[in-house]
Amino acid sequence: MEKRMIWDIPTRLFHWLLVASLSIQYATAEWLDDAMQWHFYVGYFTIGLVIFRLIWGFIGPEHARFRHFLKGPTAIISYMRSLPDKHAVPHAGHNPLGGVFVIVMLLLIAIQAVSGLFLTDEVFLDGPYRHLVSDSTQDVMSTLHHQVIDALLIVIALHIAAIAFYAVYKKQSLTSAMIHGKKATSSQGITSSRLLLAVVVAAIVAALVYLGIDILPPEPVDEGFYY
Ligand code: HEM
Ligand code: HEM
Repeated sequence: MEKRMIWDIPTRLFHWLLVASLSIQYATAEWLDDAMQWHFYVGYFTIGLVIFRLIWGFIGPEHARFRHFLKGPTAIISYMRSLPDKHAVPHAGHNPLGGVFVIVMLLLIAIQAVSGLFLTDEVFLDGPYRHLVSDSTQDVMSTLHHQVIDALLIVIALHIAAIAFYAVYKKQSLTSAMIHGKKATSSQGITSSRLLLAVVVAAIVAALVYLGIDILPPEPVDEGFYY
């Protein structure tokens, strides 16, 4: 089979920037001292990445589009039945089960990042929306932030296990395709990464995130000092 371009540049960049961001988020929260400010900054960047990917799922090239890889239960079950078959025809883009994983990952990451906006590190830093909500909402957000990360880590582990299964059992390197974009496939490849469109979307998303994080939230009321 001929190697054809499947993953456009923005989707590949999105993927590896997401991997880097989540690794930094984990390290700044769990391992590094005095790194909460970076946890906040990279969290805002992650929100931008997720919004970008959601938009790209509607206007990006063929294989990045949700309608291309979101399939019904019949397709998912028939894909799962074909899993042990080493010679099953490889999917050009995400397989039907992988498509579900993409959505679950994006959803969990979005909940993780948005719940962070309502938290405090109890020392110097408050998320931009912390003062706008009641104590009980803050508690819900805090529970989400501390629990959803565990669900996310499990889904990421399954994601990496699936990639390893393809590499070892099926002898297909999906990872190299996520790096250089090309896969051996009988389906049609893409002809353009739509880079200009991606740059425009990224600029709009950056402006929206800046607006949502820095401009819209009102200044917290000064609670004063008590001696
Ligand atoms: C923080 C960890 C990770 C997260 C959150 C993550 C998330 C994702 C997401 C959201 C996609 C869908 C891409 C899209 O359509 O936009 C994806 C696809 C993919 N990821 Fe990851 N990923 C992670 C780590 C990794 C690692 C470590 C590898 C390689 C060893 C990897 C390899 C891939 C590959 C090959 C695909 C395409 C799968 C296919 O062909 O259908 N990912 N990942
Ligand atoms: C996807 C992005 C994010 C990830 C993966 C993430 C991950 C984490 C993790 C693993 C912890 C430690 C939780 C624990 O010990 O159980 C944490 C704590 C925290 N995160 Fe995030 N976070 C993200 C986004 C954000 C954002 C955007 C903010 C604020 C604007 C934020 C603010 C905080 C705060 C204040 C804590 C400390 C909470 C506490 O100690 O109770 N996070 N985060």
